[in-house]
Amino acid sequence: MRNRQLYSILFLFISFFFLSCESNIPNDREQIINDRVDSLIALMTLEEKVGQMLNLGLPALLQGEFYSVRDTLIFDTSKVNKLLIKYGAGCIQNLGNFPLTPQQWRYYIGYIQQTVLEKTRLKIPVIYGIDAVHGANYTAGSVMFPHNINLAATFEPELAYRAAEITAYEVKASCIFWNYSPVLDIARHSFWGRVYETFGEDTYLTRQMGVAQLKGLQGEDPSAKNKVLACGKHFLGYGAPLNGKDRFPVIVTEYMLRQIHLPPFQEAIEEGLLSIMLSGGTINGIPSHADHFLVTDLLKEELGFKGVVLADWGELDILYRIHKVVSDEREAVKDCILSGVDMVMEPYDESFAVHLTDLVNDGEVPVSRIDDAVKRILYLKYKSGVFEDPVPGLDLYPDFASEESNAMNLQIARESITLLKNKDHILPLKKDLKVLVTGPASSSLNCLNGGWSRTWSGEDTLYNDTEKFTILEAIKNQAGNSNVFFSRAVDYDHEINIDDACRKAAFADVIIACLGEKPAAEKFNDIEDPALPGIQLKLIEKLSKTGKPVILLLIEGRPRIIREIEPWADAVLMAYLPGNEGGTALAEILFGEFNPCGKLPYTYPRYCGSLWTYDHTLLEERNMDFNPDGFSPQYEFGYGLSYTSFQYSDLVLHRDSIGTDDELTIEVKVSNTGTRAGKEVVMLFVSDEVASVSPPVKKLKRFEKIDLYPGQTQKIIFKIDSNDLQFVNSENKWIAEEGYFTLQIGDQKARFYLSVN
Ligand code: BGC
Repeated sequence: MRNRQLYSILFLFISFFFLSCESNIPNDREQIINDRVDSLIALMTLEEKVGQMLNLGLPALLQGEFYSVRDTLIFDTSKVNKLLIKYGAGCIQNLGNFPLTPQQWRYYIGYIQQTVLEKTRLKIPVIYGIDAVHGANYTAGSVMFPHNINLAATFEPELAYRAAEITAYEVKASCIFWNYSPVLDIARHSFWGRVYETFGEDTYLTRQMGVAQLKGLQGEDPSAKNKVLACGKHFLGYGAPLNGKDRFPVIVTEYMLRQIHLPPFQEAIEEGLLSIMLSGGTINGIPSHADHFLVTDLLKEELGFKGVVLADWGELDILYRIHKVVSDEREAVKDCILSGVDMVMEPYDESFAVHLTDLVNDGEVPVSRIDDAVKRILYLKYKSGVFEDPVPGLDLYPDFASEESNAMNLQIARESITLLKNKDHILPLKKDLKVLVTGPASSSLNCLNGGWSRTWSGEDTLYNDTEKFTILEAIKNQAGNSNVFFSRAVDYDHEINIDDACRKAAFADVIIACLGEKPAAEKFNDIEDPALPGIQLKLIEKLSKTGKPVILLLIEGRPRIIREIEPWADAVLMAYLPGNEGGTALAEILFGEFNPCGKLPYTYPRYCGSLWTYDHTLLEERNMDFNPDGFSPQYEFGYGLSYTSFQYSDLVLHRDSIGTDDELTIEVKVSNTGTRAGKEVVMLFVSDEVASVSPPVKKLKRFEKIDLYPGQTQKIIFKIDSNDLQFVNSENKWIAEEGYFTLQIGDQKARFYLSVN
């Protein structure tokens, strides 16, 4: 309470200082903020400005080594004095190595804010940043949603919006004003360890989901009590590492970069995105963190981005240690700042600030560049509301982890799970069957949540929310304890109790085998072999030999090769990383309480050597016989079954040719021809028949999710125009070329002509 009074007094002081008096305040809020920024920057010394550009990890302020494992977090006064007061670090981010409750966050962040407000000359509050990428995942007890890949599988942007709203609320309840989300990367390599953080391989779907997430997080006013600043990441092309390993070189033409990877960022900027994090990696040999073209010419000038460009964790260091584009740290700082980076996540210490001050004093970095960066940072801080109330009271957040928010979490998990195979309608199961549950993902909440869950790697079981159900527990809830046998798998990679599972299978009517990946984040999620570990494949092989039907549940952050075991499974359910309610959602689907409706947001490869995206060119389909008939993924993008069936009919185009200013109205009918109510995602794909750059075989242009009862037919209307027919040509310009286009919705196809004047 005393702290809050102190903040209020300080706020009054700051307001008075910068605005003189209320009556002088211009009406326009933007103008007020810009005036405040100008007044404040005019008072700042070079050291104070450079301090604002420094983004440190929380452990830099704590007792112990940066990466030492602690069970309590204790501030180190000498580090605090040096980094917060002497060097005036403008941003602190991340966590120790365990999640904090909202009260604990309040205590630690409160201490940081109180320190800078009491002990620094200009009393500029720190902005705290966090990776709340599937809920407020670093706040104990928060709602942990499915990862973005699940949101994408729902094909329902409204759900991404709702999850983001709840996330923003719970992040703000933790006194954190800046969220390093949404991830706007396009996952163009199937085996990349960060596929699960993305909305999949398609640009249009990512745009829809990413913008919905941005709006849910940031809204019109990020200073609102239930909103936070968003940070789109990672600019640019991060999702296309050549061999699928994290931060592996990206080799891509500029026109593909613009066509595939840029649009979600561009749209988010238009919708008010206030910060962007760069990608750690190189594009065509140039590290993003030293790429003037990328950061200044493209992002700031061409796209008109006025927000903060943030360097990713430790990437400055990598410029000289790994990328070898400069020879030492000082040069790295220079290149990075001159390329246009505004804030540097050099998490460990003050060395970035020391070098930068030196570079400015030596005339190697102009003060104008520093002023540009600091204005952006101060603008961000004012927009966030941190000046007004740096430590909002917990009493403002009565709905933290509310029943409604948990219900929304469950709903998203249900809507995302994707039924990939259902031989002879084996699913849904009757509740009186005897089931054997086995496999490494069957009794692990960590598996359901994956990386970025309470801890960075998501591996530690100590911080699990014990009231949430694993798949095994949720199946017991559905089928009753006495109907469920369990064979515990010991490990993911090495040791699975296969004999025990096969022995117990003899007593069961059906086997539910839960295969999966060990939770991991970033580089630690690189894999050498895209197939599921051999021991897990063997489990399915052996189980199938028992003669009992096998239901395969895949709990995996990216598609892992299952070609060999798929024929042995009677049903396959893809859960992706469905979060804390994933066990319950899966059990509901298995026993028919929910009719699955998720659709794959990526192409599921059949072979390690044949990686496609759905929007590949025909050349990629060419077979040994030179015919373009080689496209045979395990499952196609957009694929997903239901317990009911749908039929498409009566595709009608209101005209068969359009000009560049015309709109084309498209109608199609969809009927539920089965016996259960169900949801279907109606997708409209367009193919450019001939184009000056070899065109993709098809592109998703619209989608809509509908809910039909048995026997119901609904007419869907889509509208497109020539903007939807554009692509980036070899001169890096968006154009639509005259000619025929084919349109496809379900099994319905039609052609139309575009004339270009
Ligand atoms: C990741 C970012 C993340 C940052 C801070 C980096 O290693 O690439 O996505 O925001 O760490 O945790």
